[in-house]
Amino acid sequence: MSETVTFPQDRTCPYHPPTAYAPLREGPPAGRPLSRVTLFDGRSVWVVTGHAEARALLSDGRLSTDRTNAAFPIPTRRFKGIQNRRTALLGVDDPEHNRQRRMLIPSFTLKRTATLRPRIRQTVDHLIDAMEAAGPRAELVSAFALPVPSMVICSLLGVPYEDHEFFEGQSRRLLRGPEPTDVEEARSRLDAYLTELIGRKRREPGDGLLDELIAERLETGEVDVPELIDLALILLVAGHETTANMISLGTYTLLLHPEQLAELRADPELMPTAVEELMRFLSIADGMLRVATQDIEIGGVTVRADDGVIFSTSVINRDRSVFEDPDALDWKRPARHHVAFGFGVHQCLGQNLARAEMEIALGALFERLPGLRLAAEPDRIPFKPGDTIQGMVELPVAW
Ligand code: HEM
Repeated sequence: MSETVTFPQDRTCPYHPPTAYAPLREGPPAGRPLSRVTLFDGRSVWVVTGHAEARALLSDGRLSTDRTNAAFPIPTRRFKGIQNRRTALLGVDDPEHNRQRRMLIPSFTLKRTATLRPRIRQTVDHLIDAMEAAGPRAELVSAFALPVPSMVICSLLGVPYEDHEFFEGQSRRLLRGPEPTDVEEARSRLDAYLTELIGRKRREPGDGLLDELIAERLETGEVDVPELIDLALILLVAGHETTANMISLGTYTLLLHPEQLAELRADPELMPTAVEELMRFLSIADGMLRVATQDIEIGGVTVRADDGVIFSTSVINRDRSVFEDPDALDWKRPARHHVAFGFGVHQCLGQNLARAEMEIALGALFERLPGLRLAAEPDRIPFKPGDTIQGMVELPVAW
């Protein structure tokens, strides 16, 4: 039965897994951990939906993330546009991956991220001030959800925020197309932009992470300019679109769960737990991609070498054997072992930063705008299609 499921599909409700994935959640006793699904081009691949199997496979060196491998699964037509382009970190296997990741880890530790909190709060307050001044209505994605992570990543990297419209627009094209040529062109434009920026910074150094990488890694010959561009690009792209979607979809979800919102307002200390549960519940990066390089026995099936393997985080994070009553939003549950930030060597590098941004942004929004509400019927508000990072396209609010 699950052979007929096409992957990916659009969600019917922006915070639940697509109803079309229901067959993937059926079977004994808590669902089938791996099923075959069909991609847009007719190719059959594995989709992993069991929590234990997902963690085992995401830690298994026999699965590769090398997008230049001809057997790498292409989830959507526009993805062809970057198939043969190099992608730092997410697109490379160990040991190269480990070498790249080690250069960046010191900038993303919990301790280092904690030092950014006052600056994040300032950014958030400044944006809410502007919303209030122009209010009492706003389109929350453009007024708040996108600028928060964009400003934070710009200041962390040392990228001028004046350029945000350019790189936000190109990042959107890179992730959403719609055409393969859009994706390819967006990648080329971002490359050209970063080449120019790195050249400028070599002449006039600043104090961002990119400046540090230039001084400590580029000038020493440890990386070359193309590799530095790849690293800067992934940080720029992965650092804003994802967090923006969590802020917009998180706000929408909270406004539609008044009981849980009231609990959170009554006890702001719950915020870190609530962010973890929202990460699990919303699972916005729904479809991590890998290709098998050897045969792997797992969950009662054999994944063969060259098989494509996709991880549906929205289904994995609702595995009944791990999360009781998984379709409920519940601050009391232990949600921390969700895989919404991935798992294993590629687990999100920016997760501490993302958590800080979400806690501060959502906390300040509901604290400072107590009357916050949706300014349109919930089912009329557009959300993103299933083949990209999940979130709201627009979010009209009033207070
Ligand atoms: C709530 C927001 C975020 C979500 C949901 C998210 C989700 C993810 C997921 C699921 C992965 C693993 C992908 C895979 O294994 O295929 C990942 C990797 C990554 N994320 Fe995030 N992310 C978020 C925020 C950030 C931020 C703020 C940054 C900051 C720069 C960032 C940088 C990265 C990088 C560099 C990787 C690749 C790591 C590697 O391959 O070693 N992410 N993210």
